[in-house]
Amino acid sequence: MKMAERGQPVLLWGMMGAGKSAVARELQSRTSLRVVDLDEFIQTEQSQSPSDIITAHGLAVFREIEAAAIRKLLTVGRVDVLSLGGGSLLDPTLRTEVRRSATVCSLHADVAILHARVQGDGVNRPLLGTSAEEQKIRLAQLVDERRDAYLDVDFVIDTSELAIDEVVTSLLRIVEIREAA
Ligand code: S3P
Repeated sequence: MKMAERGQPVLLWGMMGAGKSAVARELQSRTSLRVVDLDEFIQTEQSQSPSDIITAHGLAVFREIEAAAIRKLLTVGRVDVLSLGGGSLLDPTLRTEVRRSATVCSLHADVAILHARVQGDGVNRPLLGTSAEEQKIRLAQLVDERRDAYLDVDFVIDTSELAIDEVVTSLLRIVEIREAA
């Protein structure tokens, strides 16, 4: 693991329900950092939510839109912290490219906690299905499939037993060198 380098954006990544968007919102309210949520950025640019894009056009099309949005934000976006979607850096080529100019931090949580969080946040996630039981099974499958990718990052914060403001405090330690730049 490395320290966040001066001037590099910090990218928040991890499974659906890990708390990326909630942490980004809290970070936005506590600091003057320029914080962007990728799913919201895509919704604004495409006039369609990620879940609607996946349902209407398929996952491959969504991944292309997502990759283009990340590249755009990292080149012209002047972003300090970018909260990503859970599948957005699964492509190893994109992940390697992004890690040349950004510090990537994964938020980890146990499946039971991810499940409780996605139940409560009101976001539609087509990859998880609809029933609570189906969502738990899919989350466990996706965590297994994605485990190695989520560890191929600069920092991992285990959020299982942390409140959002505690995650933000941990994240700020990572960001502070960037902040002082
Ligand atoms: C996805 C995660 C979602 C959203 C899309 C696909 C994924 O974002 O981008 O539904 O593949 O993990 P969140 O991680 O913010 O829920």
